[in-house]
Amino acid sequence: MPFHKIQQEDIQFFRSVTGDAFVLAEQEHIDRCASDQTEDLRHPPEVVLQPATTAEVSRIMAWCSGRNIPVTPRGAGTGLSGGALPLHGGVALDMKRFNKILHIDKRNFQVTTEPGVITQVLQETLKAEGLFYPPDPASKGSCFIGGNVSENSGGPRAVKYGVVKDYVLNLEIVLPNGEVMWTGANVLKNATGYNLTQLLVGSEGTLAIITKIVLRLIPAVRHDLTLLVPFRKAVEACEAVNAIFLAGYTPSALEFMEREALEWSIRYTQSAGIDLPPDIAAHLLIEVDGNHMDELYRDAEAIAAIVAGYDVGEVMMADSVAQKNMLWNLRRKVGEAVKSNSVYKEEDTVVPRAELPELLLIIKRLGAEYGFQSVCYGHAGDGNLHVNIVKGDMSDEDWHTRLPLGIRELFKEVVRLGGTISGEHGIGLVQKSYMDIAFSTAQLQLMRQIKHVFDPMGILNPGKMFMEE
Ligand code: LAC
Ligand code: ZN
Repeated sequence: MPFHKIQQEDIQFFRSVTGDAFVLAEQEHIDRCASDQTEDLRHPPEVVLQPATTAEVSRIMAWCSGRNIPVTPRGAGTGLSGGALPLHGGVALDMKRFNKILHIDKRNFQVTTEPGVITQVLQETLKAEGLFYPPDPASKGSCFIGGNVSENSGGPRAVKYGVVKDYVLNLEIVLPNGEVMWTGANVLKNATGYNLTQLLVGSEGTLAIITKIVLRLIPAVRHDLTLLVPFRKAVEACEAVNAIFLAGYTPSALEFMEREALEWSIRYTQSAGIDLPPDIAAHLLIEVDGNHMDELYRDAEAIAAIVAGYDVGEVMMADSVAQKNMLWNLRRKVGEAVKSNSVYKEEDTVVPRAELPELLLIIKRLGAEYGFQSVCYGHAGDGNLHVNIVKGDMSDEDWHTRLPLGIRELFKEVVRLGGTISGEHGIGLVQKSYMDIAFSTAQLQLMRQIKHVFDPMGILNPGKMFMEE
């Protein structure tokens, strides 16, 4: 059944729910919600709604179910797979007014928050209480915690502390038919029934609207130490990653950057402070953390000794907070820096960590074969490599027809190495045509059936994750 186009009576109903000020049809709002950080894609909604309470979301969903109006939930719009793009128009459900941290339960190391809180704001508020919520996507200064839960985001610290799913205990959700429920309980162990909480984590706004989030926390860690290690051969940087773990060390971040990634970020951020000799092909950015500085220095020295077994330049240890922040800012800005250079596609490959050197070689071989330039960087400690494919002077024809064949080939190799096609950015719009590489027909069918149970009308974020039938 085709979706219903929004009419005046729909607008009137939405106004009665949220108040006139939060039913937005002006071009600036339509434009804002038409795109996220994914390539140069644009899919405008017909209207933007900004509800502020679960009850409002419930009434909106019940109405849209009854009228067959598509609804696409939206956080801060920092996504990299097009999850927030209203492919079929309809309602963009902008969650920005869900911006309250509701309850910090210090005794139990838990927080209950609304989804529209900026991740870094949440982290800093908790840190002031001696509490630590580790997952730290590159966009932490602007992304929303709700988007992080919906995408099961990761970030540099995942290598030691895990990803978002490892911290979500319980969720308040609104089903497409308007029904409100909690998915679990605020406990650290739970062997009671199906794990609906974890089914919702990473479901990319296709199953329900998340309106409250309960997160598990850990005690704040006092110190950290950051090293930047330049390598003359990029593959050796990938090899060194595993050597560090095999020697018994678990850094709190272990990031890989190909030369161009760092170079472009230096240019983009107009950063001085760092020297990039011409013979350096890649860097590892390594962080160790803990409560005792003397131990961290010993770990850093041991790691420096391990990497010295490779063809490396001079290891830099950040000796001030400013220098540390400069290095991390360079790393976090790589994505933006590449985007400012050219249209690009960002693939989010992930393989078992020890296969990382082979993955890098495969990417470069396929680039030569299919004629694409790639800039690789990412969370090497997780075996998670972001492959930025730069359009540069590639023709539109090659970009749209030949390149997808190269990406298909790459994903097949990733799966052959025991990996999968997205580590932390999700499937959304831009990776859905590759799902058949990661899953069999029977697996995909099971997932579609789950979607149907939650959303029989198919109104919630339609056109995402699966190819449309
Ligand atoms: C990063 C984002 C793109 O790691 O995932 O910078
Ligand atoms: Zn990343």
